[in-house]
Amino acid sequence: MRLFIAIDLPREIKEYLFSTASNLQKFKGVKAVSKDNIHLTLLFLGERSDVKEIISTLKKIRFSPINLETEDFGFFPNKKRIRVVWLGLKHSDELFYLQGEISDYFEEDKPFKPHITFARVKFLKHEEKDLLIKKVNSLPKPYFKFTVDKFKLYSSELTNIGPIHRVIETFEAEK
Ligand code: 2AM
Repeated sequence: MRLFIAIDLPREIKEYLFSTASNLQKFKGVKAVSKDNIHLTLLFLGERSDVKEIISTLKKIRFSPINLETEDFGFFPNKKRIRVVWLGLKHSDELFYLQGEISDYFEEDKPFKPHITFARVKFLKHEEKDLLIKKVNSLPKPYFKFTVDKFKLYSSELTNIGPIHRVIETFEAEK
């Protein structure tokens, strides 16, 4: 099973980002992430068969509710080669702590850049790249503040209508 660990987001953020991404679809090769699939990834695990062990590992993690605020738009891997358009988050020690705990259990040491992917770029005409960047930079800067009191283990099934994400288990913050 293809697995990842992520934070689900408030409906208004998903709706805002989905409608923003839908507007970017006028660029051929740009695809909005479906509303239900918008999340904040903590760790991508990839293909795994030890789901039970993963759940019992994640159950050991203790964390308190985390306050988050959105920040600027950005591009992965960079502006020259755009594959993903995202909305970033203001630095939060608590979020880094939680992500660090999870990464440690899975011996993952990739740097963490908190981001909410809302559009993916399959291809982009060279002359449209600057237009896309301009368009994204001209969007009114959204501001969302929210509290995270759980994270989830998801499966992601790749299908010809796009990835289907399913919640396998939810892990709650300490009250
Ligand atoms: P992202 O959109 O936050 O970058 C489920 O597939 C999620 O895991 C994706 O939404 C993506 O998160 C992340 N993901 C998918 N493939 C990945 C990979 N090869 N490496 C790292 N993260 C990946």
